[in-house]
Amino acid sequence: MTDQVAAPIGVFDSGVGGLSVLAEIQRLLPNESLLYVADCGHIPYGEKSPEFIRQRCRLVAEFFREHGAKAMVLACNTATVAAVADLREHYPDWPLVGMEPAVKPAAAATRSGVVGVLATTGTLQSAKFAALLDRFANDVQVVTQPCPGLVECIEAGDLGSPVLRDLLQGYVNPLLAAGCDTLILGCTHYPFLKPLLAQMVPPSIAIIDTGAAVARQLQRLLGERQLLSDGPAREAQFWTSSSPEHLRKILPILWNKSDSVRSFTV
Ligand code: DGL
Repeated sequence: MTDQVAAPIGVFDSGVGGLSVLAEIQRLLPNESLLYVADCGHIPYGEKSPEFIRQRCRLVAEFFREHGAKAMVLACNTATVAAVADLREHYPDWPLVGMEPAVKPAAAATRSGVVGVLATTGTLQSAKFAALLDRFANDVQVVTQPCPGLVECIEAGDLGSPVLRDLLQGYVNPLLAAGCDTLILGCTHYPFLKPLLAQMVPPSIAIIDTGAAVARQLQRLLGERQLLSDGPAREAQFWTSSSPEHLRKILPILWNKSDSVRSFTV
């Protein structure tokens, strides 16, 4: 195996939400070594300016490249809408996978013709999201719901407190009242709330996220370049721009293991 094939993949989110994507990548590509950066010191990105997010993404991309990453996954919808074009321009030959709310599959799946999108304010206000609706949602009604506060709960390791339950219920109710039969989780933190959501919506409501699709896209890009590893994978490594101690506590809840965690000081 060449060095490049055995090289790791860098996965990035504003916080721990991208762990939902990391899990899909590890499931599909168990031979790949994974690096994960959580920019927890600057969360939530949903309320930050696109320029600020672009700068953070550049710093993280450089960090991954210094660690020899053969590809980067922006496991964050908010970072993708703000920064993926800039990163692609800056690193034209580096495989880069971003993510966007699953409007296309939801528009194909809905029977009521009404689709709900739960996402951050930054994602919902972006030109990229507007373009996504223009492209794929002409024949359906899309009801959007910004969800401030959810990310902070998940970052604290809270997946089911009464406060979180009330907050989520308040975001879901208007979507149900509008007749949505398909809910898009347009933020990588929200898949961790699926068990809670399942208690709030009838079983006929489809809940869609894009983690698995992102893993397949990564597999495609690496395959095209003969960069898929035969393994063995090294243990995943984690960095956070906030307290490593805090991430060490959260990892067993959201990732199952308490792997190595270091400080990301850039
Ligand atoms: N996980 C990020 C996303 O997918 C957003 C979290 C944040 O607001 O920082 O959009």
